[in-house]
Amino acid sequence: MNDPIRIWRCDLSKQADSILDELLEETRKILLSGKYTLGSRLVNFEKEFAAYCGTRYAIGVASGTEALYLALAAHGVGEGDEVITSPFTFLGTASAIIMTGAKPVFADIDPNTFNIDPKLIESRITPRTKAIMPIHLYGQMADMEAILHIANKHGIPVVEDAAQAHGSLYRGKKAGNFDCLACYSFYPSKNLGAYGDAGAIVTDDPSLNDKIRLLRNYGQPTLYRSVINGINSRLDELQAAYLSIKLKHLDGWNTRRQEIAEVYKKKLSGSSVRVPLFANHLYSNYHVYVVRTERRDELQRHLEKRGIQTNIYYPVPLHMLKSHEFLGYKPGEFPHAEKACEEVLALPMYAEMPMEYVDEIAHEIWKFYSI
Ligand SMILES: Cc1ncc(COP(=O)(O)O)c(C=O)c1O
Repeated sequence: MNDPIRIWRCDLSKQADSILDELLEETRKILLSGKYTLGSRLVNFEKEFAAYCGTRYAIGVASGTEALYLALAAHGVGEGDEVITSPFTFLGTASAIIMTGAKPVFADIDPNTFNIDPKLIESRITPRTKAIMPIHLYGQMADMEAILHIANKHGIPVVEDAAQAHGSLYRGKKAGNFDCLACYSFYPSKNLGAYGDAGAIVTDDPSLNDKIRLLRNYGQPTLYRSVINGINSRLDELQAAYLSIKLKHLDGWNTRRQEIAEVYKKKLSGSSVRVPLFANHLYSNYHVYVVRTERRDELQRHLEKRGIQTNIYYPVPLHMLKSHEFLGYKPGEFPHAEKACEEVLALPMYAEMPMEYVDEIAHEIWKFYSI
């Protein structure tokens, strides 16, 4: 018999509780305002998030997946095109590409970073390649310098999937500061999460900013007078207000995640799991804390029996999913991604997590390997 779960992988209720009065006050005001979309809360949040990211513009949209879709659409990606990305990521990355009518062309990951291996990108470029989409997985920025070098050489735009990278840095710069569009998700469990679905695209480019603003609202510069075909992907006033409240805390919450990660690293050093280690020019927001072990499934069961919840991001690489069979990939094509899927395990990580939990989790991991 398993213990009931005592230590959740992520407990969102604690964070909501810590800012509850502000959330309720904003909710009350917005409900009574009668204005629920494309209002002042969205305008404010867009300004604040752009300032936080260090970009000229932020465009609020309905989800991270639609942020990626709209970024690709703004670059004119469509039917018959190809977008190079990693097969070791969340489904949404590929869904957005497929939604445009393009094909996701996978390049394997660097097993040390879990991010797309820039050395493998160039051989995947064809005349149909219309974008490269690196993912900053787990909050660790992809190797942007090497990726941009290839992209610029071939004149291909880069769209960053920054869904997991709020506050992460590459040589001191956040996603969106590399002369390319960066797409964020505010799914509730993200480092900056809404209380529902939401997303944003950040950019310094005024014409892409204008185009994405049109695309997210049916292509209408004025009501009922659309000039291009767009969709409904608006970030509503309630979510925008909640995100403004939470944005003020983001750096503090990320710092707390750093402290938790440091303790994990200290307590697990010398054990049989491989802890995440980052190059000096990277700052991770520790969206998740992922260790690696060949006995992953057994370790997960051991922890579960003791009431400790873990998660696997991701159990199946995108090229081996049933839904992607039509893309024509075969098992074995991206060995590093496939192996990562067998070995990664995300330990509990959230800013409000008591440090005693880290001690207990580390203790249980040592115990597992000593049996
Ligand atoms: C790497 C990655 N890409 C895309 C998405 C899609 O974002 P959303 O769930 O907001 O649509 C997510 C988040 O869930 C993600 O983690």
